[in-house]
Amino acid sequence: MRTLLVGSGAREHALAWKLSTSPLLTELHAAPGNPGIAALATCHPVRTDDTDSLVALARELAIELVVVGPEAPLVAGLADALRAAGVAVFGPSAAAAQIEGSKAFAKDVMTAAGVPTAATLDTAIAPCVIKADGLASGKGVFVCETQAEADAGLEAAAAFGGTVVIEELLEGPEVSLFALCDGTHAVALGAAQDFKRSEDGDLGPNTGGMGAYSPVAGLEELDTLVAQIHQPVVDELARRGTPFVGCLFAGLMLTPNGIRVLEFNARFGDPETQVLMPRLDGDLLAALAASAMGDDSSDLVRPGDRAAVTVVGAAPDYPARSDYADAPISGIAAAEAGGAIVFQGGTATREGVLITNGGRILSISAVGANVASARAEAYRAVGQVSFTGMRYRTDIAEEAARG
Ligand code: AMP
Ligand code: GLY
Repeated sequence: MRTLLVGSGAREHALAWKLSTSPLLTELHAAPGNPGIAALATCHPVRTDDTDSLVALARELAIELVVVGPEAPLVAGLADALRAAGVAVFGPSAAAAQIEGSKAFAKDVMTAAGVPTAATLDTAIAPCVIKADGLASGKGVFVCETQAEADAGLEAAAAFGGTVVIEELLEGPEVSLFALCDGTHAVALGAAQDFKRSEDGDLGPNTGGMGAYSPVAGLEELDTLVAQIHQPVVDELARRGTPFVGCLFAGLMLTPNGIRVLEFNARFGDPETQVLMPRLDGDLLAALAASAMGDDSSDLVRPGDRAAVTVVGAAPDYPARSDYADAPISGIAAAEAGGAIVFQGGTATREGVLITNGGRILSISAVGANVASARAEAYRAVGQVSFTGMRYRTDIAEEAARG
């Protein structure tokens, strides 16, 4: 199957890595990809927001399946344009991707579907959470403990334009739960915990994610959870005439009163995919292709028995900046020879040398019989990889590893 992967992060490198093990794969292409992906696929210099060129590329290469990584092209209608051109896509239509693109839409669907979520409030009285409606790269959510924070949050959220959603403030650990959807069925892919803050001890500013582990203790009954959380949303979107085809990602909070959904995303998680792929059993390409055709993929993939941990090697000034360029990267081959898998995010090559080019540069992953052994392997590999200024958290999965 000639396959085109859209995106350029470590998430897409992890997808490419798993896709490339499929016996069904005949050609793997990526747009735009990165140097890590280029070892597995033919990369084409087409931007993820250039819908017309992506459609033209897919036709020129006679692509049989497009897999879309990031949310922005999905919300902008890339999957619709490809389908209109007769190309099969794993990724939701713009209408279905509104589950991530609009907080107000997501809340409406969750309520109609009866999915447990935070209660909506009429006024911004602290404690509360205030959310700007549209895609805001994580910067549109304000968790307000005091009234002063709520007043400031309301102003900041309103500045994004559009509707503002106000919710009760919930507390508890957060986990991500993923399901492959074919428009009708939701099939469990795995659960992971990511580490959003930049510093050890969950301190410092929010980031795109500094590491992750999977599986998550307490979330063993994945099929039951997906039946309660993802399936009603898939049913509701189908009922509305906008079926969801793609990866449906539920951001959950494990509160003292039970599981609540904080948000849905219309895509794979980053860095969660860098732990889900190494432990996934089965043929990912077969599962994504089946889902794209509207066929149940439940017999094709399942979370494996092993655990995985990933640690992000970030730029020295990330997350303030995401443009750390030109520092040579070394040690990947040694780390991989020892059994780790180094997924590349913000990298480039210059005269054959691998260099940094972004904020989250590498996701250093390892698998093991349990979280403790996967963690030990991942950090051993972290010690082998280097670039000037590399920064990483030292406490990824530390608590989970203690069991
Ligand atoms: P969202 O984009 O809706 O997932 O929100 C981003 C982050 O804000 C989440 O990962 C949580 O850490 C936090 N958050 C969102 N909603 C709530 C809530 N109702 N209560 C507490 N924290 C929340
Ligand atoms: N790791 C969270 C996300 O991908 O949005």
